[in-house]
Parts: sequence; structure tokens; C-alpha cells
Amino acid sequence: GFGVIDIPVYFHIVLPNANDVSSGQINSQMNVINSDFSNPNTNQLPSGATDFINDATDAEISFSLAGTFRYNDSRSSWGTNNAVKSAYPPITPDTHLNIWVCEIGGGILGYAQFPGGNSSTDGVVLLTGTLPGGNASPYNAGRTLTHEIGHYLNLRHIWGDGRCRQDDFVADTPASDGPNYGCPSYPTVNCKSADMTMNYMDYVDDACMYMFTDGQRNRMRAIFAPGGARDSMLN
Ligand code: ARG
Ligand code: ZN
Ligand code: CA
Repeated sequence: GFGVIDIPVYFHIVLPNANDVSSGQINSQMNVINSDFSNPNTNQLPSGATDFINDATDAEISFSLAGTFRYNDSRSSWGTNNAVKSAYPPITPDTHLNIWVCEIGGGILGYAQFPGGNSSTDGVVLLTGTLPGGNASPYNAGRTLTHEIGHYLNLRHIWGDGRCRQDDFVADTPASDGPNYGCPSYPTVNCKSADMTMNYMDYVDDACMYMFTDGQRNRMRAIFAPGGARDSMLN
């Protein structure tokens, strides 16, 4: 197998005043994703959650800032239909993760394209206020990007976007039947076992999500293997 996979990242800041997002804020966001994809954070898990402590993992994926592009644009509601990507196309998406920071509208924090889609729309769109220190509290610690990169690397929501028997294709995330919000206490039971509410692929507050599992790690990394949907990233 391969060791830590490093993904080069381009940021596209698309705002009326694109300098409103500082390079310091982008560096903070880079630090958050690098920490979240490497630190298992087992110290934060409730002591009774022994299964979860065993499942929490270093995903062995890192990110390097390859460039930041700023575009002054007065549009204030880009929506979720890739309009921002048509206006400001991705740069070498076969080898780089492209991230657009803009005002999305409709209360949407972010959206991502799963692997295998059209390269002209590949990447992640992020609401400006979700950046670390932004105004989208309690979603302003930078973990919306962690969640969206999870989708970009083939992860589904832990409830599989369906009822208890709907799979997320990851064996070690327990079944659930819908998103959890806020900062749930442990155990929170919806499908006969405790939900892994603290997983990055749930909908809880940024402060209350802090783990990927071994199964999620393997599912993400599988797309980089020869023939996988993102094998072009490893050249
Ligand atoms: N609702 C968004 C999505 O499904 C992102 C949720 C992010 N949650 C958070 N705590 N930052 O892609
Ligand atoms: Zn999601
Ligand atoms: Ca599962």
C-alpha cells in the first residue's frame, strides 16, 4: 500500500471584496483539515464508547496549499448548482482539490462532488462564514470543509441518507436513520445501537464532531489505488 496521501489544494475566493478572506484564515482552514484527517482525537470520546475509541483513526491524508485566487464578484447567492464553478473554472482538477469560498444562500454550509463526476465541476464549494473564526456559528471552526472533503473522497453521511437499514457502505459506522444536530449526549440511540454522532459525516456542531473510522479511511484511500476514481492524483 501507500503511506500518507498528500492532496494539493487551490482556493478560489469569490466575494464582493475577495480580500475579506485573509491568507491567515486560509492557513487556519488548512491546519484544521490537516489535523482532522490525521488526529484520531480519541481523548475526546466518552469513556464508555470503547468501540468508537477502537474505530477512530488517522486517515493518513494530508493537504498542501498550492495557490489562492481571489475574484471580486458582487453576486451574493451562488446556489448549489455549480454556477460559481462555471464562472471560475477549476484548475487541473485531476491533480488538485479545488475549493470555492463564496456566499451560497439558502442556509447551505457547503456542497461537494463525489469522485467519478465531471472534471469541470469537481471540487468543494464552501460558505465563507464556515471558515475558522467566520460568522456561521456553531459551524465556524472549519469542519464543514472536513465534512465536504469526506464527500469528495467518496464518504456518505453516516445514516446513508435513509432509514436504519440504509447503508453508508462503511461497516464500522453504526446504523442511524437521520442526521443529528447540536452536541448530542452519549449514547444517542436511533437504530438499536449508539449513533456515532461525533463522526465528521454527521450534522452536529463543529465542536462536537472529531473522528473518522478505519472503514471510512479505507473507503477514502481506495479511490487512489490504480483504477480508482482519483488515481490520477497520485501520478
Ligand atoms: N449540510 C452540509 C452537507 O451535507 C454540511 C454539514 C456540515 N456540518 C458541520 N458541522 N460543519 O454537506
Ligand atoms: Zn454532507
Ligand atoms: Ca455503516
